[in-house]
Amino acid sequence: MSENENNKSSNKMWGGRFGSGPDAIMEEINASIDFDKKLYAQDIEGSMAHAQMLADNGIISAEDREKIAHGLNTILSEIEDDTFQYSRALEDIHMNVEARLRDLIGPAAGRLHTARSRNDQVALDFRMWVRAELTKNVTHLEKLISAFVGLAEEHVDTVMPGFTHLQTAQPVTFGHHCMAYVEMFARDRTRMLDCIDRLNECPLGAAALAGTGFDTNRHQVAETLGFREPTRNSLDSVSDRDFALEFLSNASICATHMSRFAEELVIWSTPQFNFVRMSDSFSTGSSIMPQKKNPDAAELVRAKTGRINGANISLLTVMKGLPLAYSKDMQEDKEPVFDAAESLELAILALTGMVSDMHINKDAMRAAAGSGFSTATDLADWLVREAGLPFRDAHHVTGAAVAMAEERNIELHELSLEDLQGLNASITKEIFSVLTVDASVNSRKSYGGTAPEQVRKQIAHWQKHNWV
Ligand code: ARG
Repeated sequence: MSENENNKSSNKMWGGRFGSGPDAIMEEINASIDFDKKLYAQDIEGSMAHAQMLADNGIISAEDREKIAHGLNTILSEIEDDTFQYSRALEDIHMNVEARLRDLIGPAAGRLHTARSRNDQVALDFRMWVRAELTKNVTHLEKLISAFVGLAEEHVDTVMPGFTHLQTAQPVTFGHHCMAYVEMFARDRTRMLDCIDRLNECPLGAAALAGTGFDTNRHQVAETLGFREPTRNSLDSVSDRDFALEFLSNASICATHMSRFAEELVIWSTPQFNFVRMSDSFSTGSSIMPQKKNPDAAELVRAKTGRINGANISLLTVMKGLPLAYSKDMQEDKEPVFDAAESLELAILALTGMVSDMHINKDAMRAAAGSGFSTATDLADWLVREAGLPFRDAHHVTGAAVAMAEERNIELHELSLEDLQGLNASITKEIFSVLTVDASVNSRKSYGGTAPEQVRKQIAHWQKHNWV
């Protein structure tokens, strides 16, 4: 044993059987206080509920509970006032709080840890933290969805090209495009609510892994902390982090949705597209090219997705090889979740700001909607409906019309009736009525289609929810 090690005293919380303290590097790798101090409020709330239950069941005295509660409240204020002294030697938030409690109230502090372990304590704190994040993001998503519904309402009749493969496909309305994102974010919202519902079981009282011999009341603690019920299996309680994985998966999916719209904004705000102008508050200029206005916020929303996906993979990888029950590996669950949560919240808020604040260039959208032979499908559909052609034949005739227009560098509606009749004799002048962008869009009245009357129905559906 080196002299260095001999000089260190063993950990005062668990060092009973240890002759000396940890090596400096051990302390460095072992301590989580630098990040898990984020859990302080949940840790204290959990301890309050636990102490109350211990006292109510005669496991500690009412007097000790009183002291514990008082001490915990003092610690809460110290942390919130930024006067609390965190110590790395005390590893994590749980032991930092408990050690301070001992300074404040003496030996009664040692009774708080009866019938629990840090394993169920951390499982509880982290669950409550994730639950709060999910709840917050549900509200953020409601605002984002409302912003999209508002934009859709303004633009039920605004036509734009609909794309597949980012090639002009068929004209759509911008309102319809916005409502597509409403559907996505509304599913993200319910995914968050489902996740809250599934994680809403209280792990405290599972103790280290096997439960406890003390006559505890886990239902009471669960109820005090706003859980539906206690977790049913003590081994599962301390060893799974699927609630965090589910949060991260939901975050990944939601971020992916946001990233797709962000990508569209990046493309649409180029001078070549000019469909949108981002507001000054969500763009930046270039220090060298004075003409530039860069869609930085949209780019960052797109990039945050990478971080969030990374967090998801990190935690999946940490968990995949762990035998039951707790292993210290699980301490690595927090940083990816904290980072992803911060990124997710920022991205939702930034996107909401951008959507509420951007200018839509209807003229550019309309001009683009009418180019690129966007009504070719309408021509083919007319041949099916009015001339009785099988769709495949109609497709062929339309292809020939597109080739002819392309060669002459004109749009489909600029071809003459004679030109069209040369391709198929049954064509009449009525065909021109379906070749305009508005006719095309108005005709797509199938349920969920892009016609303004359908988009209005979609909007009405969401406006029935009291949070829109
Ligand atoms: N800081 C630890 C964590 O985050 C708390 C649980 C420690 N449990 C233990 N048996 N060492 O996972």
